[in-house]
Parts: sequence; structure tokens; C-alpha cells
Amino acid sequence: MNRRTFIKGAIALTAATYFYPNIVFGAENFKWWQKKPVYQIYPKSFLDTTGKGTGDLRGITQKLDYIKSLGVSAIWLTPIYVSPMVDNGYDIADYTAIDPRFGTMEDFDELIAEAKARDIKIVMDLVFNHTSDKHAWFLESKSSRNNPKADWYIWRDEKTNWRGIFGGSAWQWCEERQQYYLHTFATQQPDLNWENPDVRRALYDAANFWLDKGVGGFRVDAIVYIKKPKTFVDGTPDALDGTCAVHNMIANTDGILDFLHELKREVFDGHDIFTVGEANSVKPEELKYWVGKDGVFNMLFEFSHVNVMFNNGDEVWHRSKPIKLSELKKALSDSQAATKDSWYPIYFENHDKPRSVNNFFPHGSDKILAAKALAIILFTLRGTPFIYQGEELGFTNTQFDSIDDYDDISSHGAYNLARSDGLSDKEAMRFVQKFSRDNARTPMQWNSDKNSGFTTGKAWLPVHKDFAACNVEVEEHDANSVLNFYRKLSTLRNSSDVLIGGDYAELYPKNEELYIFTRSLGGKKFMTIVNFTTHKVNLPDKIFDGAKKILGNYADEKNYLRATEAAIYEF
Ligand code: GLC
Repeated sequence: MNRRTFIKGAIALTAATYFYPNIVFGAENFKWWQKKPVYQIYPKSFLDTTGKGTGDLRGITQKLDYIKSLGVSAIWLTPIYVSPMVDNGYDIADYTAIDPRFGTMEDFDELIAEAKARDIKIVMDLVFNHTSDKHAWFLESKSSRNNPKADWYIWRDEKTNWRGIFGGSAWQWCEERQQYYLHTFATQQPDLNWENPDVRRALYDAANFWLDKGVGGFRVDAIVYIKKPKTFVDGTPDALDGTCAVHNMIANTDGILDFLHELKREVFDGHDIFTVGEANSVKPEELKYWVGKDGVFNMLFEFSHVNVMFNNGDEVWHRSKPIKLSELKKALSDSQAATKDSWYPIYFENHDKPRSVNNFFPHGSDKILAAKALAIILFTLRGTPFIYQGEELGFTNTQFDSIDDYDDISSHGAYNLARSDGLSDKEAMRFVQKFSRDNARTPMQWNSDKNSGFTTGKAWLPVHKDFAACNVEVEEHDANSVLNFYRKLSTLRNSSDVLIGGDYAELYPKNEELYIFTRSLGGKKFMTIVNFTTHKVNLPDKIFDGAKKILGNYADEKNYLRATEAAIYEF
């Protein structure tokens, strides 16, 4: 190569890397967490090895080969720290110790080591907006107005009309201090005061403790609430009891990114990890400040597609509306566009959301076809697919008849709010059954034995009634199962430069029956088509021309789409 060609080449290379940091050179230039999916585990419901009725760390270690069979790079664990479990571990009483219900620190070290032996990393959940009211910091803070941690939490003489995310006032009176404290979530989850540098230092130290243990990254909980407005004022009431959602008063307050850049500098920088923030109400157009070159996280769980049935981020269940497909598609396309030069965590489920086949497909859809159709979207959008335990088996919502049977704290808040807004018990229950977080928390289904192999004791939440037909053992042996479909999709995506990094383009965005999009890179192209209805749909025009079907939820091919049909084509 002569000098001129070399310089020209170098300039082109630099320009290309600048404009297309992720996609110019194919999959080998992607980070480990971009190349494979992530598997999310809710440890309490995964596998119980002691007969106590709740899952534990050893249960996860036992199932690592199963998890590996899904082709994932990492496991995100929801909180396993010491906790009174008012919100199943999201109320933390000690950031650097394992709750005995889940096992010991030795069990955790073993999990990290066994996962590492299988090339899987363990990702922890950082819950930094609040602690438990049993955390030593809070016990000290509430003891008087002049102790060293007096302003580690948000204390006020007056309360506002803000309603907590789990219902009731967002303020709790404290006798010792003769003051109120703010709790965005449950009464037992007081908000930390991030304005205090000692609080921030203590949190960074806790996160660094886990980095020293070799974790592969963090999912950062409820992060949009850490910055509070300068002054606290009443909001316009949106419920008959005169309250307004705290979410609408404090989420994503100006200045929040300064805190997060500090968190990045003090904790994330310099480590080969990934970070994903949970950020209800960050809009797709704001994503550029949160992820990518100038952002703070590698990925952000924004909520626009999973909350498309709500008018606001406050998620009042009984004010939800039916999903309009064009709105769901717009939410997905907007976030794809906004992360074109960065990265996106693709998800339809987690421990807070109903099962996706019930949530996104119309009543009457075949559940297995629907689970496979969503899987096709999950694996063919641009970003890292996040699989939530049970999703890969086609889990569906559970149903309890009485509010007393629900464990999820937010279900009780939502029920009470619906009743105080005038709904009957039956009407309120309809929304609880539809949106309760317990839908996602029923125990993992391993086989057709008692309790589906989850526990030899009494399961903390009843196992789903369909467990005999829908479980790992049964699906392992069925070539057409949802589980084996997930494995095929994972293999396909993990080995395709186009599916990992290719450009996204949506076709027919206004169509209310079909979701169609392409992924393309360097002359190669894939097309995903999904029929969201329960009837036959003709295609808008000859979009199949030149296309070869490579995977679908129906084996054969027609020149129209059958109920809930979904397929991937290659050009
Ligand atoms: C997040 C968690 C949720 C928890 C809440 C409070 O939204 O995903 O499960 O209840 O934060 O920590």
C-alpha cells in the first residue's frame, strides 16, 4: 500500500468509526453484552433448594446449564441483599450483604465462579433511590434532627398532596423527629437525599464492593427519582382523594444527569461491564443524554412501549386504554431511531409487568403463537434482547379471585385507588388481575411434578395452573416448543451481523394489524412480519418478492398471514 492510499484509508476509517461507532466492522466489534441476550432472574421465584418455599442462589447455580442453552451473556439478578422484603428485596437494609433467605456470600461467590466457567456474567440490581426503613442509615436519621445522618433522607415539616407509587400519601409522619419523610414507593422505602455528598459516597462504595467481587454490571433501579425539585408544592389532584401522582412531580428533574455523571465516574468508568438504567418517563428524544457517547448508561429501560396503554408514566391501572398497534409500533420505532448510534435494551417483560402474550396480543390469540411472535420481535429489533424468566417458555398471566390473595404491594395500592375512585370490587379486581406484578412472579415451572419442581415445600406464590403443559422438561422434548424457538432465535441473532448491528426501518407504520420492519447492513437484509390480529390478513403489496422465509411460528408459507402469524425473511 502506498502512503497516499494508506492516509486515505486511515481517514475513511476514522470517519466511519466516528459516524457509525457500532456497525461498520461487523459483529466482532461489538461488546460482549451487545452480542448475546441477557436473562433476568427473580430469585425468589426461580428454584428453591431447601424446601422453604422461596428460591435461592444455589437454585440459580444448579440451573446455569439451562440458562446457557439460551445463548446469553449475562444474568441480571433482582435484589438479593438483606431486606425486610416489603417490596421483595427492593427495600434494602444492607447493601453489601446477602439476605439469608437467598443463601450466603459463599453461595454468591460460587454462583459468580460457576457462571464465569460458562462464560456468563452476573449483573446486580442497584437500588439507590431509597433504602428500607430498617437500614441503619435510616434508623439513625430518624432518631433526632441533629444526628450525623439527619439529612441523609428527605425530611419536611409540611407534607404535600403527593400520592406514592404504591398508593397512599408519599409522606410518612415520624414521631421521633416530629417531621414527615418522603417515600416515592412504599412507606417502608424512604427516599435518600442525593444532595448530600456523604450519601452519594456511601452508595458508590456499595456499588464498588460488588465490582470488586467481579460482577458484570448493574441494572440501576428507579433512577429517575433521585433528584428532587428545589421546592415541594402541591400538584393538581388526579384522584378523588385529592392526591396527585408523585411520579408526575419528581421524575426526571433538571440536574439529575449531574448526579449520574458522577456515579459513572466514581463507579462505572474503567470496568468491562454494562449498565442499564430503569427510567420511566425519559422520552426517546431524551435518550441521547442518557446513553451512548455522552450519556451515563450503556442502555436505558425507557417505558414508552410497555406503558403504551397508559396516558402517563404514573400508570394508573384502572385508567388504562386498549392498545392501538400503531402507537405500540411508534414507541418501538422511536426508541430504535433514538438509539441508532448507541444501544437499546429490548424487552417486553420483567418482574413488574404482566406476561407479554396477555399484555400485547388481543384476547383469544393462541398463546404459543403469540409467545413466538413476540420472541421474533425481541430478537430482531436492534439492541440487546432481555429475556425474563418464564418468557422463554410462553408463560401467561395468573389469576387470583380476591385482593387478599395478591402478594404484590403495588396491586393493593392500585386496588385501593380504584375503589376510592368509585370502582366496584369486581371492576377493581379486573384491573389487578390484568396488571398485577404477581403475574410475572409465579414460580418458575421446571417439570410436571408437584409445584412444578420449584419447591418441595409450600410455594410462596401459587404455581400457575397450566404448569403441567408449560414447563422446561416438557418443552425440552418438544421440537416445536416456545423454548426451542427461543434457542433457534438466539442462535440466529447471535451469529448475524445484520441482526446485531444492522439498520432498522419500519414499513407501513399506520397499519393497525401488522408490524413489519427490516434490518439491513451492507446489502444484506432481514424482514420481520407479525400479524397482531386473530384473523387472516392480506399483505399490503408484494413485499415477499425475493424473500426467503427463514423462521416463523407456522411451519409452512402462504401469500397471506394467518392469525398471530409471525416470520423472519431474508433477502
Ligand atoms: C423498580 C423495580 C420495582 C420496585 C421499585 C421500587 O421499579 O423494578 O420492582 O418495586 O423500583 O424499588
